[in-house]
Amino acid sequence: MTARIDRLWPDAAEQLSDDDLIASIDHAGVRVNFISSIDGAATRDGLSGGLGGPADWRLFELLRRVADVVVVGAGTVRAEGYGPLRVSEASQRWRVDHGRAPHPILAIVTGRLGLDPGSEIFTAAPVRPIIFTTEDARNAEGIASFADVADVVVEGRERVRPETVVAHLTSKRSLDRILCEGGPSLFGDFIGGEQVDELCVTVSPALEAGQARRIARSDAAHPQDMSLATVLRSGDTLLLRYARSAPST
Ligand SMILES: NC(=O)c1ccc[n+]([C@@H]2O[C@H](COP(=O)([O-])OP(=O)(O)OC[C@H]3O[C@@H](n4cnc5c(N)ncnc54)[C@H](OP(=O)(O)O)[C@@H]3O)[C@@H](O)[C@H]2O)c1
Repeated sequence: MTARIDRLWPDAAEQLSDDDLIASIDHAGVRVNFISSIDGAATRDGLSGGLGGPADWRLFELLRRVADVVVVGAGTVRAEGYGPLRVSEASQRWRVDHGRAPHPILAIVTGRLGLDPGSEIFTAAPVRPIIFTTEDARNAEGIASFADVADVVVEGRERVRPETVVAHLTSKRSLDRILCEGGPSLFGDFIGGEQVDELCVTVSPALEAGQARRIARSDAAHPQDMSLATVLRSGDTLLLRYARSAPST
């Protein structure tokens, strides 16, 4: 059964349909999506899945439905066991009906190419993934083994700069609806590079304590003001959308 989602703000509406939800998320820009416990943990037992629930899964799929490309860090691919990026049949139908490719492209960011070119994330991908990696990785052995399964883009010496990722996706590929699914290190870099237009964050009704990391991390702080765009509710779960604040004049 589809999880019930109501809108609390900016205008109240009950039992939103998929089309209602899509109306506020189907636009160009860089959107980041995370789930967090109330006390700020990004994981339970090392994974985000333990925090999730039906409403988060529903929105997660709709965010992928409208995306041209899903960007994810290699740490999340490894930790969460990402497989080939396939959206649901309903999402495929919606995408084709709206003139889009059946599936978004998966783009993986990795500094040291710690991925297996024989894994299904590549070999069973419905669309050839993109790998953003570094000159250091290019100079190491192994990069050639990815040539058959992905488009490898070298952007940066030791770290991939999110600015160049976004520029490549938008200018060279015309992929304007960019969804970043984390993880925290990549999100920290996106914040530092001032590349975040929107954040969707699901607040899971749980306290975690412990050593779990936050949804963003980086060596230096990079404060950025955001404005509340939508407040959705599903039972005890809040689904919040924040947009980049307009610069003050
Ligand atoms: N709560 C949530 O919604 C959510 C979402 C996603 C992930 N998570 C959790 O977050 C944890 C993983 O955290 P994480 O910080 O390791 O995730 P991450 O950002 O996905 O992975 C870090 C790794 O990604 C690559 N990477 C990220 N940014 C890079 C950059 N600018 N340049 C080059 N490489 C870059 C590097 O890979 P290489 O090591 O290959 O160089 C780096 O070691 C997992 O426990 C996962 O379950 C939670």
